Amino acid sequence: MWWTGAVFYEVYVRSFADHDGNGIGDLRGITDRLPYLAELGVDAVWLTPFYRSPMADHGYDVADPRAVDPLFGDLAAFDALLARAHGLGLRVTVDLVPNHTSDQHEWFRAARGAEPGDPERSRYIFRGGRGPDGVEPPNNWPSVFGGPAWTRLPDGQWYLHLFASEQPDLNWSHPEVAADLDTTMRFWLDRGVDGFRIDVAHGMAKPAGLPDLSPDALHGLHSMSDSNDPRFDNDGVHEVHRGVRRTLDAYPEVMAVGEIWVGDDERVARYVRPDELHLAFNFRLLESPWNAEELRTAVDRSLRSIAGTGTPACWVLSNHDRPRHVTRYGGGKVGLCRARAAALLQLALPGVAYVYNGDELGLPDVDLPDEALQDPIWERSGHRERGRDGSRVPLPWAGDEPPYDFSPGASSWLPAPEGWAGLTAAAQGDDPCSILNLYRHALRIRRTWRGRSAMAPEASLTWLELPRDALGFVREDGLVCVLNAGTEPIVLPPGDLLLASGPLTSLTTSADSGGLALPPDTAAWLAST
Ligand code: NOJ
Repeated sequence: MWWTGAVFYEVYVRSFADHDGNGIGDLRGITDRLPYLAELGVDAVWLTPFYRSPMADHGYDVADPRAVDPLFGDLAAFDALLARAHGLGLRVTVDLVPNHTSDQHEWFRAARGAEPGDPERSRYIFRGGRGPDGVEPPNNWPSVFGGPAWTRLPDGQWYLHLFASEQPDLNWSHPEVAADLDTTMRFWLDRGVDGFRIDVAHGMAKPAGLPDLSPDALHGLHSMSDSNDPRFDNDGVHEVHRGVRRTLDAYPEVMAVGEIWVGDDERVARYVRPDELHLAFNFRLLESPWNAEELRTAVDRSLRSIAGTGTPACWVLSNHDRPRHVTRYGGGKVGLCRARAAALLQLALPGVAYVYNGDELGLPDVDLPDEALQDPIWERSGHRERGRDGSRVPLPWAGDEPPYDFSPGASSWLPAPEGWAGLTAAAQGDDPCSILNLYRHALRIRRTWRGRSAMAPEASLTWLELPRDALGFVREDGLVCVLNAGTEPIVLPPGDLLLASGPLTSLTTSADSGGLALPPDTAAWLAST
């Protein structure tokens, strides 16, 4: 299957490239830049939602899943993007948002206009409140974005929204809900898309009776990545994925990856059973700090979780919901060195890799001023949490000034900072030592390396004996990856050097003379001899 061992590139549509000059990325902007992605060497793109939406959660509040929002273009622009991508050998996958709709979706508008108890309300989760006159929400659930997970309508009923109040949760026991997802999938598959990324894929089934969260569960909640949150990963969700798979199986060579924030490895594996999804994002690397033991545990756990499923692991370092890894690893020069090393780790691991737009440019998060913040989390948390905008700043393409050729206009929806001239794709393209060229080089090796045999599902790796602050492994096909997360250089294991994330040094002791050392915060690939 084409996705086994593929490298996907996440295009956060608002922030990738703006064609029409309004400062917001769009489909034509993406099409213009597809040759850049082909040259980078990725196999596929994932486009975040570009469907009709009031943009309360920047497109994850979908008002019509089978229409393009005018902000991003139209269906003709989408078809042109798809044709150009396919012409360049790139697959195109798109987002599906089955857990909720926008409050402007025709179903919710009808529900809002109907009486309590009317069937129009039954596609969502409406309940009466508690306390005198039902003034208290039906249970104590908070929204993942802050504030309560319930909003009351003037007629007294409450509706559930695990995210923003503009994102009412769908009732998946209603048959029309599943039927509509099928129609949406077929709509895009018939146009030629190669697959889907499924938003909150562990969220559609709610616990029976919608019970209160225990004080412990409430206390421990931070985000939907909280593995102890009983509102996610309920068994009924697998029926949804079996339905998704039935639809996909009617088309050749198409796939789905689920966004699954579940802590228990065995429970993650359930999502990739043979009649469910093809891939489950693995967020263990993204959640791991810069520490050899923790990175190694992240890899081990991830491989264990898919062992026996026949599906490849799916590695993620960053995405549009989390701080970028340059920043997570300490920022500045150190953060960048570590990000370069982490890229070699991610791209050497057996399985699928997802690169978030800007990873390949080594972008850090941007500290945006309060007035620039747009993530609903900022308002909903009463300005206690700044939200995710810092990792969503538009990509710098060329030039010395913001918005760095992101847009023909003078500004961008989130302001790019001063000082990114050296990070632009154009500047880095000309610099053989840039992180962009490191990615290009690594992806070239990965594509051609011994027939990609190690990218087979469940390809195994063997850990090397190395100093405690380093990790390294050899894959079945002889590719060796070593990463030094410590503070002292380490001796490189034997093998022919293929690529290093930074300069190597010579060993100084006479016993080792002639050998090479891997400095701190550096990784290397070797061909085992
Ligand atoms: C996960 C998406 O990645 C995130 O951006 C969005 O806010 C939530 N799901 C809700 O759809």
